[in-house]
Amino acid sequence: MRAATPAHGVEMHRVIISGIGVEIPEPSITNEELVDSFNAWVDMENVRREASGETLLQKSDSAFIVHASGVQTRHVIEREGILDPTRMAPRIPARPDDALSLEAEFGIASARKALDHAGLEPGDIDLVICSASHHQRPYPAIAIEMQQAMGTKGAGFDMGLGCSSAAAALHIAVNLVRAGAHRRVLVTTPEIITGHLNFRDRQTHFIFGDASVSMIVEGLAQGDKRPGRFEVLDTRTWTQMSNNIRTNLGYYTRTAQDDPYMINLEGNLIKQVGNKVFKEVTVAGHKFIVEFLAEHGLTPQAIRRFWLHQANARMNAMILKLSFGHEVGHDRAPMVLERLGNTAGAGAIVALSENHADMKAGDYGLLCAFGAGYSIGGALLRML
Ligand code: COA
Repeated sequence: MRAATPAHGVEMHRVIISGIGVEIPEPSITNEELVDSFNAWVDMENVRREASGETLLQKSDSAFIVHASGVQTRHVIEREGILDPTRMAPRIPARPDDALSLEAEFGIASARKALDHAGLEPGDIDLVICSASHHQRPYPAIAIEMQQAMGTKGAGFDMGLGCSSAAAALHIAVNLVRAGAHRRVLVTTPEIITGHLNFRDRQTHFIFGDASVSMIVEGLAQGDKRPGRFEVLDTRTWTQMSNNIRTNLGYYTRTAQDDPYMINLEGNLIKQVGNKVFKEVTVAGHKFIVEFLAEHGLTPQAIRRFWLHQANARMNAMILKLSFGHEVGHDRAPMVLERLGNTAGAGAIVALSENHADMKAGDYGLLCAFGAGYSIGGALLRML
C-alpha cells in the first residue's frame, strides 16, 4: 500500500478509483413532453396575467432546447408531477424519519454498484463522503444515514460544490487516502436536482435531470496491478464567486417574509444567467485544463479521453476547441447530456463510467466538472 514518495515527512500512497457505480432513474421526459406541459401552464397563467395587466409569459420551444443545449431527454425520479401543468414539480411523498430517505436510497443504489465493481463489501469502507449540488436536508448527514444503512465503518459527512460536487469530493478523498488518513473512501453524488428546479422558468426548466454516481477511492498496494482501473495522478479544485447560478432557498428564506411559517419559493429556486455562465465558464474551464495538464508536463493532445461536465454540448465543444486549437470529436470527449440532461455533479462521472472500457494501460484521461460557484474540479487519471 505504501509508496516510496514521502512528501513533507508523510509517507504517501498511490491512489486508484477501484469502482464506479451509476444509477439512472427509469422515468424519462422528452423535450416535447416538457414543452407541452410548460406551454399549457403558460396558457393558463397568461389568462390570469392578462386580466391583471401583467406582462405575458413566452412559450418554450423544443427546437430551441436542442439547439441551445443539446439535451433531448432527461431521466427523473418522478415524472407525473413535473408534467402536470397544475403542479410542475416532482411528487415525492414525505417518509417517516425512521425510513431510509430518498437521497440516501439513491446514493446507496449507485454505491452498491461501485462496491461490486471494486469487489468490496460495505465493511471495507472507512469514510463516506456524500457530495451533491442539493442535499435533502442538512443533518443528520445523508452520508451518515448511508453509513448506517449499508454498514460502512468509520465516518461520513456531506458536502457540496454545485456541479463540481463529485470532482471536489474526489479531490478530498484522494488526498485523505494518499496521506493515509483513510483506507477506502466511498464518494457518492446522488443528484435529485429536479426537486429544486423551477419548472415554470423558461430559462432553466429544460436543463437538468436526476442521476446518482459513486466512486470507491483506495490506495494501491505495492505490487498490485489492478488492470482496467484508473490511478489518480492528481486532483485540483478552483473556485471564483459568481451569482450567475444561484439559489437563495435556505433557512433564512422565511426570515425575510411577513409570515415566516409559509415558505415562499418564488424566486428562491435555481436561477441562472445561462449565456454569461456559458462564456465565463468556457474560458475558465479551458484555462483550468491547460494549466493543470501543463503542471504535469502534458498537453491536451496527450490525453486519450476527456470526461467533461455535461451542461451544454456547444460549451464542451468550445472548451476543447480552445484547448486543442481545433475541433475534437465525441470519441475524445464523450457526451451523455443528450440522453440524460445536465445531471449536475453526476454528469462527468456518468461519462467516465460509460466511456473507458476501450482505453489501454498507460492512457491518460482527464475528468473536469464545472458549474455553480463558479467552481471547477479536475482529476488527472491514468489507466493501469
Ligand atoms: N424556449 C425558447 N426560447 C428560449 C428559451 C426556451 N426555453 N429559453 C430562452 N429562450 C430565448 C431567450 O429568451 C432569448 O431570446 P431573445 O434573444 O429574444 O432575448 C434566446 O432564447 C437566447 O437566450 P440565451 O439565454 O442567450 O440562450 P443560450 O443560447 O445562452 O442558451 C443555455 C441557454 C442555458 C442553454 C446556455 O446558456 C447554457 O447552457 N449555459 C451554460 C449553463 C452551464 O454551464 N451551467 C453550469 C452548470 S449547471
